Amino acid sequence: MARPKIALIGGGQIGGVLAQLCALRELGDVVLFDIVENMPQGKTLDIAEAAPVDGFDVSVTGTNDYKDIADSDVVIVTAGLPRKPGMSRDDLIGVNSKIMTSVAEGIRDNAPDAHVIIISNPLDAMVTLCQKVTGFPSNRVMGQAGVLDSARFQAFIAWELGVSVKDVNAMTLGGHGDTMVPLVRYASVNGIPVLELLEQKYGSAEKANEVMTAMVDRTKAAGGEVVKLLGNGSAFYSPASSAVAMAESILKDQKRVLPTCALLKGEFGIDGFYVGVPCVLGSGGVEKIIEFKLDATEQALMDNSVAAVKELVGSMGL
Ligand code: APR
Repeated sequence: MARPKIALIGGGQIGGVLAQLCALRELGDVVLFDIVENMPQGKTLDIAEAAPVDGFDVSVTGTNDYKDIADSDVVIVTAGLPRKPGMSRDDLIGVNSKIMTSVAEGIRDNAPDAHVIIISNPLDAMVTLCQKVTGFPSNRVMGQAGVLDSARFQAFIAWELGVSVKDVNAMTLGGHGDTMVPLVRYASVNGIPVLELLEQKYGSAEKANEVMTAMVDRTKAAGGEVVKLLGNGSAFYSPASSAVAMAESILKDQKRVLPTCALLKGEFGIDGFYVGVPCVLGSGGVEKIIEFKLDATEQALMDNSVAAVKELVGSMGL
C-alpha cells in the first residue's frame, strides 16, 4: 500500500519544521516546494540524512516543480512573507495575495484531490483566496490558526496555575487577528473552570477576572510578542506543530475536534465567510462544523471579529 503524501508549499522557517515533524511522525512521504532554487532540496537532504538517527522510514524531498506535488493527500501552504516587528498580519495582504494566487493555481493543476491547510497570513483572507482560485469544495480548504491561538491560551493558563498543559482545555474562535475570541467561559482544567481555580488562588473573583483578562490579552498579542523578540520573522515552531496536528487528524481519520478556519454557511449566524470555529477533521477534511450557543458577550466579540475578517476579505475585491 502506498504511503500518504504530504506536500509543503513554502520551504522557509515554518516549511522546514513542518517537513521535519511530518518525517519524525512518519505521517507520509514529504515533498517540500519553494521557488528558491536548491534551498528546498538542501533542507530536505539535511532532514533525510537524519533518518537513520531518528529512525523514520518516509522519503523527504525538495523541489521547484509543481509536478512533484501530484497525488498529494494533504498540502500545507506557508508560502508568503512573514511580518516584521510593528506590522500586523493584515499588512501582508498585498504581497501575499499575489503569492497565494500562484500557489493555489499550482495546487489546483497538480494536486486536485488534496486537502489544503493554509498557514500564510493574513490567514482568513488567504484561505478565502485559495478556495476561490482552486475551486475545491470548502471541506478540503481550511486554515490553521485556532489550534495555535488555543495552544497559546492553554500554555498561559497552565503556567499561571502550575498544572500540566495536557490537562488544560481552552479554545479561541474568530479571525486570526487582534479581534480573535479566546473563550473564557469554557476554559477548564479537566473540566474545572479556570476562573474558579483562579479565584481559589487569588481569593477574589475580581482578581481572578483581572488575571484571566491579562491571559486573554496576551493570547491575542502572542504572535506579535514572538515577532518582537525574534526581530526578524515570525513564529515557526508552534504554527508547524499546529498544522501537523490538523494534517494528522485528516490522514489518520482521527476526527479530532480542532478549532479550524472553515467556510461557514449560516453557523454562528455567519454566512459565506471563513472564520475560526471548532471542526471535526477526518478523512473527509472538515467533516463537521460544531455549532454551540454563545452568550451575548461572546457573540458580540465573534461578530466584531467577523466584521474585521469581512473588511479584510472585501479589500481583496474577490
Ligand atoms: N511560491 C512558493 N513559495 C514561495 C513563493 C511562491 N510564489 N513566494 C515566496 N515563497 C517562499 C519563500 O521563498 C520562503 O522560503 O515562502 C517561504 C516563506 O518562508 P519564511 O519567509 O521563512 O516565512 P515563514 O516564517 O515560514 O512564514 C510563512 O506563514 O505564519 C505565516 O505570516 C507567516 O505568511 C507567513 C507564512
